[in-house]
Amino acid sequence: MSSKRKGIILAGGLGTRLHPLTKFTSKQLLPVYDKPMIFYSLSVLLLAGIRDVVLITSPHSLAQFKELLGDGSDWGIKLNYVEQAKPNGIAEALILSEDHIKGKPCALILGDNIFYGNGLTPFLNKADERQQGATVFSYRVSDPGSYGVVKIDENGKALSIEEKPENPQSNLAVTGLYFYDEQVLDIAKNIQPSARGELEITAVNRQYLKQDQLFVTPLQRGFAWFDAGTIDDLMAASEFVCQIEKRQGQKICCPEEICLLREWITNDQLEALLKKQQGSEYNRYLYDLIAERRSVAIESQ
Ligand code: DAU
Repeated sequence: MSSKRKGIILAGGLGTRLHPLTKFTSKQLLPVYDKPMIFYSLSVLLLAGIRDVVLITSPHSLAQFKELLGDGSDWGIKLNYVEQAKPNGIAEALILSEDHIKGKPCALILGDNIFYGNGLTPFLNKADERQQGATVFSYRVSDPGSYGVVKIDENGKALSIEEKPENPQSNLAVTGLYFYDEQVLDIAKNIQPSARGELEITAVNRQYLKQDQLFVTPLQRGFAWFDAGTIDDLMAASEFVCQIEKRQGQKICCPEEICLLREWITNDQLEALLKKQQGSEYNRYLYDLIAERRSVAIESQ
C-alpha cells in the first residue's frame, strides 16, 4: 500500500559541530555504519508507504544528493529536490515544499534522525491514517533540555510543548518526525522567527496544540532513536547499527530492501541495478535477498 501523503526530508544546515568532516560534504551524507545517513530518514518515510518525497538541502550539497539518489525511479519512488539558501529553521522546510505538498497532508523528517524498533511501521501507519491534526513521536531522554519537549497527561494527551526549555516539564523529547494535515502550510507561513531567528517547528506544533489537534505517540523503551548531530552521536549510531545488523544478519533502513518488499521494484529491476555496482557487502546482502525471494516464489508454485 502506498500513502497519499507527501514526504519531506530536511537535510540542510551547516554541520558545524562535525567540522572538518562536513567541510566537503553534507552531514546527512556521512556514513552511519554501512550506508549514508540519509538512507535512514528516507527509509522511515518509505516504511510509512510514502513514495513521493522532496529533499531539502543547502545549495552546495544538492548535486551530491542528486548523484546519490537520482530521481528515485531506480527504486520505484519519486524524489524532488529543493534548495534551502540558509538554515532559517525547520519549519521553513514546509514553506519551501509548497509546490510539492499542493494542499496534501505531509510527513516531515530530519535527515539526521535515525529510528529503529519493533512496531515502528504500525505507528507510522496509524499516523498516516489520521486525517486531521499533527502527530509527533516522543522519546524519553536524560537531557530533555537539548530538544523540543512535550508534556502529556496519563491518557497521552499533549499539555505543553517547548523548544529547548531551561526547565523541562518532562523527560519526553520530540523526535524529528512530524505528520501534518493540509493546514500545515498556512500555519508555517504565519509563525514568527524565534529569538534565535529561526522558524521553529515547535511553533508549528504549538498551533496544533492550541487547536487540541496535537497527537503524541510515545516511542517506548524498546525503541532506539538517534539524532546524529555530534561526532559522539554519529559514532554511537554507527556502533548500534553495526551490532544489530551483525547479530541478526538483516539490515536496518535499507531503502532498496523496503522498495523491493513493497513491490515498488521487481527482483529483476533490482538485480539489474546491482550489476552496475558490484563488490560491496551491502550489494551481496541485496543479491541474497533477491535469491531468497525467488526460491520462495518457486516453492509456492
Ligand atoms: O532531533 C530532534 C530535534 O530536532 C527536536 O527535538 C527539536 O524540537 C528540533 O528543533 C530539532 O532540534 P535540533 O537542535 O536538532 O535542531 P537543529 O537546528 O540541529 O536542526 C536539525 C537538523 O535539521 C540538522 O541536521 C540541520 C537541519 N536543518 C536545521 C535547520 C534549522 C536544516 O536543514 N535547515 C535548517 O534551517
